[in-house]
Amino acid sequence: MSIETKNIIVEKVKNSKIDQVDFDNLAFGSVFTDHMLVCTYKNGVWETPAIVPYQPITLDPSSKIFHYGQSIFEGMKAYKDDNGDVFLFRPLDNFKRLNISAERMCIPAIPQEYFMEGLITLLNLDKAFIPTQEGSSLYIRPFMFASGNGFHASPASEYKFIIACAPSGSYFSGKVKVLIEEKYSRSANGGVGYAKAGGNYAGQFYPTQLAIDKGYNQVIWTDDTNHEFIEEAGAMNIFIRINDTLMTAPTSDRILDGITRKSILEIAKDQGIKTEVRKISVKEVVEAAKDGSLKEMFGAGTAAVISPISGFGYRDTDYELPELQQSYGARLKKIITDIQYNKSEDKFGWRY
Ligand code: COI
Repeated sequence: MSIETKNIIVEKVKNSKIDQVDFDNLAFGSVFTDHMLVCTYKNGVWETPAIVPYQPITLDPSSKIFHYGQSIFEGMKAYKDDNGDVFLFRPLDNFKRLNISAERMCIPAIPQEYFMEGLITLLNLDKAFIPTQEGSSLYIRPFMFASGNGFHASPASEYKFIIACAPSGSYFSGKVKVLIEEKYSRSANGGVGYAKAGGNYAGQFYPTQLAIDKGYNQVIWTDDTNHEFIEEAGAMNIFIRINDTLMTAPTSDRILDGITRKSILEIAKDQGIKTEVRKISVKEVVEAAKDGSLKEMFGAGTAAVISPISGFGYRDTDYELPELQQSYGARLKKIITDIQYNKSEDKFGWRY
């Protein structure tokens, strides 16, 4: 049976699959909720969004997503507090960033009410899937892609906007060891590095696999010109602490404007931690590792939250990071997750 709310058509599942979810052993993004939101762009307009049972989608083999990779996505989370109330973290920032990515990839912008009303209606329906286990949350994946047909290398005339959700545990299991990359590049000036375009991630798989084969988990990308400066890690932005100063690279058309990244910068400043947003050379990080002034490194992202980095590799040498009692990463993670899970006052107004 279908019912229609103000702007959304809702078709509920007949039988929920929630009993099949092992909430005590959640991996990241591998089991899905009962419903998904689907909205189609056709004849120059986004049609009324529909919430339907989670299911495969059918596409013509000539759909442009398959050939030209016109596809973008977002990563968000829903958190449940001890009373069972549900919160999002800065969702309008995700909405805005999705449309920034859309513009770069020639995809029509999605209206705010479809994104927000669609998301909230979906979360209300699938609320029972939001886990309460420590470190778990409902990972939300809004995405858009070219469903229109044809081999002509030009933007499609039809698109899909979909939101799918996955009750999830941590993105990384265990320590994160990174390799500073000097051969391959993630993005270039004037490119699409700042957009959450699917191809930005696909392009990392091969160099990342080479790094995994050498015993690392992730690659830290450096600038594509001379591989001199630290940029981001692809699945997360990077923070580096030298002595008492916490640093991260400035965003640019090569680096993703991470919502966790900018929140951490604000929290750190509020905590009286000295922060610098500036170009960070590989040379200074290696020298700091050698003279002991490199105190910590961590990744920051929606999926990664704040993930401590245990060491890095550079030109065939491994550098271990010390285990700190009072790490900035642990302190900032507690503050940001307390806001997200409604365990503290939200002085920044980020909880939704
Ligand atoms: C996120 O942090 O939400 C992302 O989109 C990164 C992705 C590699 C999981």
